[in-house]
Amino acid sequence: MSAAPLDREQLMGKVMGDFAGAFSALLVRVGEQNGLFKALGQGPADSVVLAARAGAAERYVREWLSAMAAAGYVTYDPAIGAFSLSPAQAALFAEEGTPFYLPPFADLLAGVYCDEPKITAAFKSGEGIPWNDRHGCVFCGMERCSRPTTAAFLVDWWLPALDGLTERLKAGGKVADIGCGRGGAVIAMAKAFPNATVHGFDLHPGSIEHARATAAEMGVTNVRFEVAAAKAFPGDGYDLVTIVDALHDMGDPVGAARHVRQALKPNGTWMVVEPLAEDRLEDNFNIRGQLAYAASTCICTAVSLSQEVGLALGAQAGPTRLKSVLAEGGFTRIRRVAENANNIVLEARP
Ligand SMILES: C[S@@+](CC[C@H](N)C(=O)[O-])C[C@H]1O[C@@H](n2cnc3c(N)ncnc32)[C@H](O)[C@@H]1O
Repeated sequence: MSAAPLDREQLMGKVMGDFAGAFSALLVRVGEQNGLFKALGQGPADSVVLAARAGAAERYVREWLSAMAAAGYVTYDPAIGAFSLSPAQAALFAEEGTPFYLPPFADLLAGVYCDEPKITAAFKSGEGIPWNDRHGCVFCGMERCSRPTTAAFLVDWWLPALDGLTERLKAGGKVADIGCGRGGAVIAMAKAFPNATVHGFDLHPGSIEHARATAAEMGVTNVRFEVAAAKAFPGDGYDLVTIVDALHDMGDPVGAARHVRQALKPNGTWMVVEPLAEDRLEDNFNIRGQLAYAASTCICTAVSLSQEVGLALGAQAGPTRLKSVLAEGGFTRIRRVAENANNIVLEARP
């Protein structure tokens, strides 16, 4: 059962809070682009000092600081007229590279806002929006959001949860990551298992190009990136196939599952990482669900509808629906092996 509807005053408070948050998110991006959070991380400052540190215009910085302090994203001490970052504020806004660092979400949001006319038009036409047609901030936001999570969880938590997999990959083996985007998971696995060969496949040529350049820059050589659809990626005899936060974006996830099955060794494993969700719509009525359904409406559903079949699972499909897709694709042994605050991890074996 959903909670009782809020009365008008309560609802007004909730919605205005959300809208204020949407503006704040935009200013998080502006602040990050101008180096304001990192500059404030160097120590307490008023707007004159911060503007000088960051090389930005003082009047804008002054208003930005007021907005961020009103949002609770920075701290203001009226006794000395200075702003600063608490340890929690620094972790979320100034210390890049951990899953706690949130400005990359503002990249995604900026990209989605730029794409609003396309999204509005799609509601009328019913057509999809291919990944290739999205604003550039969506690609960089996606990479920046997923790379730290992948670094924190994939190698140390998710792969060890799969039956016997890490031992196999230490000795060698062949891995494919499908819907690999800019290659964060591929590069992380290649570095962790230097004796294995890791292939990354994605429909989006721009992401594949970016992934190749990143791997070359990092000197990671046991990887190969190719433009390919999930239903048609080349090769077989894979020990492990992974799909990280991409199955629900695919037009034909059942077709993808069938293709993965035939590409695996008979004793191979498929790992599917998907956004955390409960099975029942009403059990997702919380902040996570609000965010995920909104992103799914604007991005994931539109990508899936742009492809063959257009199943449009949505980013909150829930474990039962996901398992049924895997089973339809011919997998018989399916287990939920891990989860964190944002993701569930399924292991599927033929
Ligand atoms: C949400 S992004 C996730 C990217 C990456 N796995 C990550 O975690 O950063 C989804 C990716 O799936 C890719 N994709 C969508 N449909 C696909 C399909 N049918 N075949 C291959 N890739 C697909 C998109 O191009 C996009 O790069």
